[in-house]
Amino acid sequence: MKGIILAGGNGSRLYPITKGISKQLIPIYDKPMIYYPFSVLMLSNIKDVLVISNSEYIELYRNLLGDGSKFGMNIDYKTQEKPRGLAEAFILGEDFIGDDNVCLILGDNVFYGLGFGAKLKNASSIQDGAIIFGYYVPNPKEFGVVEFDENFKVISLEEKPEKPKSNYVIPGLYYYDNSVIEKAKSIKPSARGELEITDLNKEYFNEGKLTVELLGRGFAWLDTGTYEGLSEASEFVKTIQRRTGLYISCPEEIAYRNGWITKGELIQLGKEYEKTEYGQYILSIANDREAI
Ligand code: G1P
Repeated sequence: MKGIILAGGNGSRLYPITKGISKQLIPIYDKPMIYYPFSVLMLSNIKDVLVISNSEYIELYRNLLGDGSKFGMNIDYKTQEKPRGLAEAFILGEDFIGDDNVCLILGDNVFYGLGFGAKLKNASSIQDGAIIFGYYVPNPKEFGVVEFDENFKVISLEEKPEKPKSNYVIPGLYYYDNSVIEKAKSIKPSARGELEITDLNKEYFNEGKLTVELLGRGFAWLDTGTYEGLSEASEFVKTIQRRTGLYISCPEEIAYRNGWITKGELIQLGKEYEKTEYGQYILSIANDREAI
């Protein structure tokens, strides 16, 4: 399976923070925001990743992540000239995806919770159809909303409805079979001029090939779209990391635990950031700190 991170847009809801920099590069506590979705792809066992962003920012992402070899991965880059919708990722990424299945994650989505790794591995082994997730929020209007019947069978999907039919919304993490490329080409732009991911999901739903897995109570899907959300997400990461001594979304650690880099390579990466707690954490992993 291939992975795409969509890190475009102009981040206008966070101006002036994002006036001069791509939103997905600003920090959530001790790491650039994109590390969090990037780690989700790694935990899904995905080694080939395409980062899509605006032309003025592509080099910044390249400086940060490189060609992926330091993590034992391959990373490609592609520009999205105008924000024409999430579903455009599959058209821009057509050559990159080739004949494979693909996972799309939004560059500003932060996930954390028990059992997430297993859910991701299961979703990434999909052969046919689509797997997306459902999450209960108090403000469903701002998202793609999914309605269930009493047996949690999907009844409807709607993008940012005025009158949401449920409080369950769809986070920005989607696993699709290869037909997503053709489906993305076939959908029409919405009233806001975008190729909506919800329209793509409806195509799978109409074919009876859409699975919506609930991320239950206790699971954290954090909002990074507002000043408040951003600062709360930073506090959340800080609190968990300091309490447990284990990091959320440290790509170096995941690469090592996935067996994609050697202990020697991990030590090299740790030494690069030796003066920081982050670097020291990487070195402690190399010194056989236990994984939980
Ligand atoms: C997008 C999707 C929406 C989804 C959300 C998750 O919204 O269109 O369905 O629930 O991401 O973050 P946007 O970020 O474009 O407002």
